[in-house]
Amino acid sequence: MRAARTAVIVGSGGREHALARQLAHDGVTVTVTPGNQGMPDTIGEGSIVLNPRSAEELEADLFVIGPEVPLVDGLADRLRAQGKKVVGPGAAGAQLEGSKAFMKELLAEAGVPTAQFWTFTSVEPAAARLRQLDPPYVIKTDGLAAGKGVFVTDDLDEAIRDVEEKLSGRSFGDAGLTVVIEEGLRGPECSLMALCDGTTAVACAPAQDFKRIGDGDQGPNTGGMGAYSPLPLVDDSMVSDLLDVAVVPTLQALNARGIDYRGVLYAGLMLTKNGPKVIEFNVRFGDPETQVIAPRFASDFFDVLMEVATGSLSGPPAFSSQAAVTVVLAAPNYPSTPVLGGEIRGLGATGQLADPIEGVTVFHAGTKRPDPIGPFLVSGGRVLSVTALGETLEEARAKAYLGAARIDFDGVQRREDIAALAAKEEGAR
Ligand code: AMP
Ligand code: GLY
Repeated sequence: MRAARTAVIVGSGGREHALARQLAHDGVTVTVTPGNQGMPDTIGEGSIVLNPRSAEELEADLFVIGPEVPLVDGLADRLRAQGKKVVGPGAAGAQLEGSKAFMKELLAEAGVPTAQFWTFTSVEPAAARLRQLDPPYVIKTDGLAAGKGVFVTDDLDEAIRDVEEKLSGRSFGDAGLTVVIEEGLRGPECSLMALCDGTTAVACAPAQDFKRIGDGDQGPNTGGMGAYSPLPLVDDSMVSDLLDVAVVPTLQALNARGIDYRGVLYAGLMLTKNGPKVIEFNVRFGDPETQVIAPRFASDFFDVLMEVATGSLSGPPAFSSQAAVTVVLAAPNYPSTPVLGGEIRGLGATGQLADPIEGVTVFHAGTKRPDPIGPFLVSGGRVLSVTALGETLEEARAKAYLGAARIDFDGVQRREDIAALAAKEEGAR
């Protein structure tokens, strides 16, 4: 028998829960810091426990850092300085997500296709630039804004008002004091998460995220309201092309700057009629994309992540042929100030469905349980994501919605159209 394997995951959301469950599924003893009260569980030989101490005070074979903020803040560097094996770039590499200006400069250097862009710190020149562009108008905060700093509109006046709000510091604080205006692109989106071990990049199965709060992509941007994988439009050979066009040159440009990038390079791509273009890079696993990618891992998840951390990737990971769909349940009034405290109905003692469905898993994000035998309560904007696996997207989608329908809280928001179009495209193939 091999020795028990241990991992620490940093973070507390649905992404971290999905990473933890997949590792536990492969027999790993997982500690999540700070984690969430919906996470602890025993899964076969593996288990998930919480520990409020910082990762720097914990010991494990492997450390995985979920969110961007600690990465930008240099947590991976500090853990490596302690001799720990870490999935996640250091602060230098994390600038790729921490500053859009840095990202755009690096992409230009690497020759990666992306939207044209202009950076502004005052309203008048920004408005003048917007007047010269065609819609859609795209305005982003330069700094981190939890996926919500992007405004896309066909209305010029609305676009200028958004610039004024951001530059005033009213809407996003310091993150908005520099704005990036981008050429507006159109086309289907694809999230490609690549695992990088410093020099080599391999692709995970592609996923698609639903960023807007409302059905039919209406309303404001959120952190993500649902996702699915695989994409009927993106086959294996296209994944390999996207990796070559978007990720490999970016990793090389990072290497040329002396950056040893070990972690996830997530390319947010738009498949335009003029070819794929990068709209963002994230330096971590996507949320909610991880909720559909991690459960599809057919390779041993721990082994692959260990190869990333130790610079020894042996090849691309294998993914199950099953499809996965996840539906996010969000708090009332999200993505503006969410209404917190509501009681969540339909969950059992471990935080999974009280009335379980085979192949359906509930990932916790904005939940808490002040009374350890009481109900879970809403404690954040994105509350839960319900993931289902199925033989087809249609089946996974039906099961995910069946699972989501068994959970309820006052004012729950969810999209009804996650993977709907893809399930049709899949049927038409
Ligand atoms: P980001 O946080 O940069 O991924 O942007 C959030 C969402 O805004 C993306 O998923 C797109 O739907 C949209 N978006 C971002 N950049 C552009 C662009 N240049 N053209 C059109 N839509 C965009
Ligand atoms: N789902 C988009 C992100 O993780 O940023």
